[in-house]
Amino acid sequence: MSDKTTVELIVSLKNKRKITMLTAYDYSMACLVDKAGIDIILVGDSLANVVLGLESTTGVGMPEMLHHTKAVNRAVKNALLIADMPYSSYQLNPNECVINAQRFITEAGCQAVKLEWFDNCPKVTEQIVQAQIPVMGHIGLTPQTADKIGGFKCQGKDAQTAKRLIDQAQELEKKGCFAIVLECLPDKVAELITKKIKIPTIGIGAGIHCDGQVLVINDMLGLFERYTPKFVKKYANLSPLILEAVQNFKNEVIQEKFPAPGHSFIIKEEELKKVNGC
Ligand code: KIV
Repeated sequence: MSDKTTVELIVSLKNKRKITMLTAYDYSMACLVDKAGIDIILVGDSLANVVLGLESTTGVGMPEMLHHTKAVNRAVKNALLIADMPYSSYQLNPNECVINAQRFITEAGCQAVKLEWFDNCPKVTEQIVQAQIPVMGHIGLTPQTADKIGGFKCQGKDAQTAKRLIDQAQELEKKGCFAIVLECLPDKVAELITKKIKIPTIGIGAGIHCDGQVLVINDMLGLFERYTPKFVKKYANLSPLILEAVQNFKNEVIQEKFPAPGHSFIIKEEELKKVNGC
């Protein structure tokens, strides 16, 4: 029997146990995340920031997202694989949202796609769900439209905006989302949303009461040094280790300590004589 995680399994975990989700963008990292037994692997459009060095997630499009999702899919055996729909694929071009979502399923091997909240989100979500493609929503701090929500800061800190977030979550549930990411909102607001909807909430900077938690893998491994949001816990600090390893390589090459005989290949003396003799 296959151990592949399904959308149905994720939904059934609500009120049973917490759901785990991490991002991955390449084969090697996805192998490890999958091996660790993480429930959901997200090929986030945070790819733009932590892998491609861009300022905004709106800088990635379908070609980049498909390319990286295919690489991750080659590694994933058990986790549910979800890709972020890039901004241009559904917010800029809502008429192409279903075709683009379908490409993540048929070409890149995803089981679902994730969309960030925007004005037209309920309609676009409904269209993709009607095409039998599972959709994960994303409300609160939505980086693709950060300029419209006052920047990269906690959302829903007053009654009016908190109520708006609750409405958005309920609207997405009604349109058929199977889960919703809550990014950067007060823990009590995330708790209210989590209690008001039947589908799981996955928090990032939204406190302990969500049904699951997600982090960007480069942040939690200490691999991205440009900035670290307050809600990130670094489970490892790999940057200094990598820096030290790279500096050791450089020094050993210059000092002619690497490669050692054990890293080299040999030719038999009699063969070498023949080469020298020619
Ligand atoms: O793009 C991303 O990595 C995300 C997570 C922060 C949930 O959307």
